[in-house]
Amino acid sequence: MSVALRVEDLAVRYGPGCPVCAEPAGTRSAGALCEICGSVHGCREVGFALDAGEALGIVGESGSGKSTVLAALNLDQPVAGGRILLDGHDVTAAAGSERRRLRAGSLGIVYQTPQQGLDLAITAGGNAGSRLLAVGWRSYDRVRAEALAHHESVELAGERLDTPVRAFSGGMRQRVQLAKALISRPRLLLLDEPTSGLDVSVQARILDLVRRIRRESDVALVIVSHDLAVIRMLAERVLVMQAGRVVEAGLTDQVLGDPQHPYSQLLVSAQLT
Ligand SMILES: Nc1ncnc2c1ncn2[C@@H]1O[C@H](COP(=O)(O)OP(=O)(O)O)[C@@H](O)[C@H]1O
Ligand SMILES: [Mg+2]
Ligand SMILES: [Zn+2]
Repeated sequence: MSVALRVEDLAVRYGPGCPVCAEPAGTRSAGALCEICGSVHGCREVGFALDAGEALGIVGESGSGKSTVLAALNLDQPVAGGRILLDGHDVTAAAGSERRRLRAGSLGIVYQTPQQGLDLAITAGGNAGSRLLAVGWRSYDRVRAEALAHHESVELAGERLDTPVRAFSGGMRQRVQLAKALISRPRLLLLDEPTSGLDVSVQARILDLVRRIRRESDVALVIVSHDLAVIRMLAERVLVMQAGRVVEAGLTDQVLGDPQHPYSQLLVSAQLT
């Protein structure tokens, strides 16, 4: 298997930064907040590699940096340090048309809230099709046929293709986000809490769908969830994040079955109760 994604020493900082911010974590500031300049280390010293077809879970409490890592991987968020390599190609500093091409072609994301990922005023087909137009497709009929195929593959009825997304339920909106993410056959699929806020039965169907997508493609997957059961079901490997840093990483069965770091132990025991 080839390495689809390699992340090295990734850092995202919210705020101006200062000499103390630049020091390794734990030197003078262990937490995410820099007491000197008030910046927040959204994430730092994050590193991992993911093969095509592999899935990595990211867990951690709210504010631990999970969405920040996904935003950086989706080239939504400029980084303060480190590198992101997609298929061996350094995309960290991609800008302009290269960044647009990567985001529309090689990357696919499902945001936690549909409003982040979709234009609710336009149709389901229009939302997904916009990515194909962004990577240079010109034939309306071909874009429409591809949008239809991808909607059916996420179990959305074809006749809903021309319905504005605003009319859809929460579960259906997440399916439209999935169709939009997958339509350009990305190398890397990013899922940020894709089932949070949905009814349990709707959650289960979305998770089944993600499992099927994994079986039927060799997309590399990074999935964020506060629900450890979701991570157990979907990801072979896991990172545990706390205050912007990875405190434990390894095989999901090992890390969640026999956590070594006190914070991972806390997370696991909290969900057993
Ligand atoms: N745009 C932003 N500006 C300033 N701080 C932010 C911004 N986005 C996130 N943060 C801060 O970065 C930290 C990590 O946030 P986030 O990545 O959203 O965590 P998670 O997804 O694990 O809940 C938190 O302290 C959060 O308040
Ligand atoms: Mg988040
Ligand atoms: Zn600082």
